[in-house]
Amino acid sequence: MEVIIQPHQEAAADLVARVVACELRANPHLVLGLATGRTMEHVYQRLVQKHREQKLDFSLCTTFNLDEYVGLPPADPNSYRHYMDDHLFRHVNIDPRNTHLPNGVAEDLDRECELYEKAILRFGGIDLQLLGIGKAGHIGFNEPLSALRSRTRVKALTPVTLAQNAAQFGGEKKMPRRAITMGVGTILESRRCILLATGADKADILARAIEGPLTGMVSATALQLHPRCTVVVDEAAAAKLTEVDYYRWIFENEPEWREYRMLEHALET
Ligand code: GLP
Repeated sequence: MEVIIQPHQEAAADLVARVVACELRANPHLVLGLATGRTMEHVYQRLVQKHREQKLDFSLCTTFNLDEYVGLPPADPNSYRHYMDDHLFRHVNIDPRNTHLPNGVAEDLDRECELYEKAILRFGGIDLQLLGIGKAGHIGFNEPLSALRSRTRVKALTPVTLAQNAAQFGGEKKMPRRAITMGVGTILESRRCILLATGADKADILARAIEGPLTGMVSATALQLHPRCTVVVDEAAAAKLTEVDYYRWIFENEPEWREYRMLEHALET
């Protein structure tokens, strides 16, 4: 795992969008794993901008989202399908047939989960998985005590998650209590993953996820097992980390981040 600290939310989202764009240009057939949430909106905004201004091409790209609420049809404004259409899909040249989210209103939810796993395999697995982190430490909707080898399944949401996302639904009572989510094991099979976390309210859980012991209580700690995981944070979210000098050294010195440093310095001048 490597941690990249950026000065503020905009810079952090910008860096993630640049990594996605770079991977997509290198492999137009990229299988991209997508996440939802307020944090990711900033990344999608930038990808849309890159599509418009730099002709970033999504026409051959395939996407798989992490999760979807059980009981919400795609047309529901709170469904993640609606979120993705709104923030990314309808603004870029992606073929809607290449975009995948679990169907939260499938008659047989277990079967839907099985089919989702099979579809990921059929496309050769996920090349790059974007992730956020919930206050409960979840990735996707892998709530506390999710098995570290879990696959796509239905998961009941914890009170912390219900509270975190309730505003969007106009109150907790109106919110679905369950979701279909890729499992921790599914996520760990992606070839590369990037977790983006910004803001002071993520600082505590982020420190536990990155520097704490591996535990099913915080499913994001499982990313410590991933061979190629980058965590991108802003200063506010990094506030409770202890090894920050090391993390800063990596971004300032490792060749992999060279072009990103140069761009950053160019923006500052
Ligand atoms: C939801 C999603 C998660 C995401 C989280 C972060 O719970 N299921 O995949 O990580 O939101 O949300 P935000 O970016 O709004 O803090």
